[in-house]
Amino acid sequence: MSVERDLVSPEPVGDEPVIEATLRPKRLSEFIGQQRVREQLSLVLESARRRRRPPDHVLMSGGPGLGKTTLALIIAAELGAPIRMTSGPALERAGDLAAILSTLTEGEVLFIDEIHRMARPAEEMLYLAMEDFRIDVVVGKGPGATSIPLEIAPFTLVGATTRAGLLPAPLRDRFGFTAHMDFYEVAELEQVLHRSARLLGADLREDGAHEIAKRSRGTPRIANRLLRRVRDYAEVRAQGVITREVAAAALDLYEVDAEGLDRLDRAVLEALLRKFGGGPVGLSTLAVAVGEEPETVEIVAEPFLVRQGLLARTPRGRVATALAWKHFGLTPPPGAYGAEAGPGLFDDQ
Ligand SMILES: Nc1ncnc2c1ncn2[C@@H]1O[C@H](COP(=O)(O)OP(=O)(O)O)[C@@H](O)[C@H]1O
Ligand SMILES: [Mg+2]
Repeated sequence: MSVERDLVSPEPVGDEPVIEATLRPKRLSEFIGQQRVREQLSLVLESARRRRRPPDHVLMSGGPGLGKTTLALIIAAELGAPIRMTSGPALERAGDLAAILSTLTEGEVLFIDEIHRMARPAEEMLYLAMEDFRIDVVVGKGPGATSIPLEIAPFTLVGATTRAGLLPAPLRDRFGFTAHMDFYEVAELEQVLHRSARLLGADLREDGAHEIAKRSRGTPRIANRLLRRVRDYAEVRAQGVITREVAAAALDLYEVDAEGLDRLDRAVLEALLRKFGGGPVGLSTLAVAVGEEPETVEIVAEPFLVRQGLLARTPRGRVATALAWKHFGLTPPPGAYGAEAGPGLFDDQ
């Protein structure tokens, strides 16, 4: 991945996990945006506190960088409970999960990130654990194998997934509460940025925050990253003061445009427009045209382009919308996706 790509990747890059830890809100009241999720979650937690029981299992679904790990830590903090963290890919065998479950203490929060990537046998063990706080440990092999039931302490599972659709229904059904995390509004990202600037000791002005927020693709992780880049630029070129002009100049330099599109996004759209006449074209063909893996195009570039109404996924392939043509200063052809029918609509040039 190029440096430019890393700048707007929603996944953590390099030593970011360390920096992010310092910027994470610790309590629900500090968590910005996601109003509905916050309200629902505070009810779930409050009623559990009153009943003196661990709350229902919680599933969080949403793209990378939207605050799932942060919320998991907040849930434990609000409950005053310890938290154990693992991830789907780390649970390859049922034994991996049994080792964790059998050592949980009462009320502990178990966080499983990327829960859709858990191995099948571990998943089946988890069903029973979630429902009955019990697991069956298989001892021995072959026909002589026996399964011994083992009680485990009541715990709360918090699962996070970027692909809720990939979760098997029996697993999904065992969560009492599902939080759908959405992309953030510009105003919410401004709040995230002001908070982070305070923690980092950066002199961020209102209009500077607005400029960075607009280019952050609705994602707090990206907003925080762009802030650090802009701060570096401001320190060298603008006595550390981050105004709109400084933010814009810095981000232009890093090739993140006014809508948050970066080089890959623009490459994908330009290939679609100029090489394939706006589509439809298959994902793998499109990926080859920009020299990337299909997965990179699909997971990193497309969700944002779709959300911005620049690209559509159709049964016949990827299509550039009328808006995409206009974004590049081109006239959309008649019948372009997302354009209203009717003559004369695009005669304005
Ligand atoms: N609602 C929010 N308010 C403030 N900061 C947030 C919020 N959501 C995410 N962040 C910040 O964004 C970064 C990424 O969040 P994280 O929880 O790791 O995302 P995810 O687990 O969904 O990929 C963290 O540094 C966190 O501080
Ligand atoms: Mg995470």
